[in-house]
Amino acid sequence: MTEQRGNWTSSMGFVLAATGSAIGLGNLWKFPFITWENNGGAFVLVYLICIAAVGLPIMMAEVLIGRKSQKSAVGALKEAVGPAWGLVGGWGVVCGFILLSYYTVIAGWSLFYFTKTLGWTATGFPADLQTGELFGAQVSNAGLQVMLSLGFTIATISVVYFGVQKGIERIARIFLPILFAILLLLLVSALGMSGSGEALAFIFRPDFGRLEPSGLLEALGHSFFTLSLGMGAMITFGSYMDRNQSIAKASALIVCLDTLIALVATVIMFSVIFSVPGMAEQVGSSTVGMLFISLPALFYSEVPFGALLGPLFYVLVALAALTSTVSLLEVVTSFLIDERGITRHKATVMSGGAIFVFTIMAALSFADVPILSTMHLFGEGDTAKIGWFSTADHFVSNWMLPTGGFAITMAAGWFMTREATEGELVDGTEPRWFHYGAWRFFIRFVAPIAVGAIIVSVMFFNVDFS
Ligand code: PHE
Repeated sequence: MTEQRGNWTSSMGFVLAATGSAIGLGNLWKFPFITWENNGGAFVLVYLICIAAVGLPIMMAEVLIGRKSQKSAVGALKEAVGPAWGLVGGWGVVCGFILLSYYTVIAGWSLFYFTKTLGWTATGFPADLQTGELFGAQVSNAGLQVMLSLGFTIATISVVYFGVQKGIERIARIFLPILFAILLLLLVSALGMSGSGEALAFIFRPDFGRLEPSGLLEALGHSFFTLSLGMGAMITFGSYMDRNQSIAKASALIVCLDTLIALVATVIMFSVIFSVPGMAEQVGSSTVGMLFISLPALFYSEVPFGALLGPLFYVLVALAALTSTVSLLEVVTSFLIDERGITRHKATVMSGGAIFVFTIMAALSFADVPILSTMHLFGEGDTAKIGWFSTADHFVSNWMLPTGGFAITMAAGWFMTREATEGELVDGTEPRWFHYGAWRFFIRFVAPIAVGAIIVSVMFFNVDFS
């Protein structure tokens, strides 16, 4: 049994794998565009506060629940809190399933742009190419979409198949340093561009007059997604963690690295955008497409060493996405291993295969396929969510992660005893800055009120986090 479950090889193993889970499309794709939509500065500051006041305490709560019980999401919540709490774990498993089904599709786009940029680097960027049209043609090409996401699914399954040490930890160990190195190269290049000063001011100079109340909620909602919280991923990763490692220290490190990478990615993208006259207006109309519409061409016209950095950038996106998809698949797989007694190999292939059926639905959402590209459950008019991709994203970001997160704050703050949580967080390994009473205050009051505000605003005020 323990052999089946596995554990990290060292304390760094956990930090790397969890950081790999946290750093993903949320940092490289979503954070830059929500920062753009919310006018930078003040939004970024509010986001940092949400990460510290809500994200970090919940991260510690998830990790401690996992480590205490050494079980994956369902079993961990059952054991640490009570039998009925297995449902919350089950909610997380379903959430991982749905989230992975559409996350893989965006991850697949990075493979497409990697091959495209490689081609352009070799033969030159075609003068008459409209990247907006290229993107549209790409997402609506059904066969291509299914192939790209199949490729990414196979990569994800192959990693989880080899288990916690030889699969998940190993790729985090190899990929994260590569990812940091590529990001550093891009940062150096971007800071040398004429728009970097304006970009830094946009991101780091708060102007509270330009922050709407909805921006506050968006910052809060995103802190869940970016830290992989609210669906049991950190419970699962925490369950493979050693007793002689400080949860507070490891969690703080993961949260800092995730935040750093989100900020660096944003500085890079905005430096490029502000360097090109007229680009800011153009991006304004398609913020979501920043990564796949605005950037590809700019690598070949504006960015110093762009022909080299372009393909590297899309490798970076793919690697970041892969270390996240494996954590999502691990949530579902470890449930089958722990709760159903299925061997890892079988469990990985079964869960990966089942999720891929839904990935196909997400992949075909932008092609002209009846039902899949027309299904409509949420929103009206401009905000309507059409197709499985948008429907799933809407459901996960607005409903599943916040409710899951809320349940976890309740579990750790109100339903577990003080002795139980204190025993995990205060065991002689904790760093000097850590104060148990402060954590307990945040997890009992601050986090539930903040997460409750998300849920209320989704239910009653039509706020949308997807
Ligand atoms: N944190 C990942 C990102 O920022 C997404 C994710 C969410 C991964 C939940 C695992 C669990 O892209």
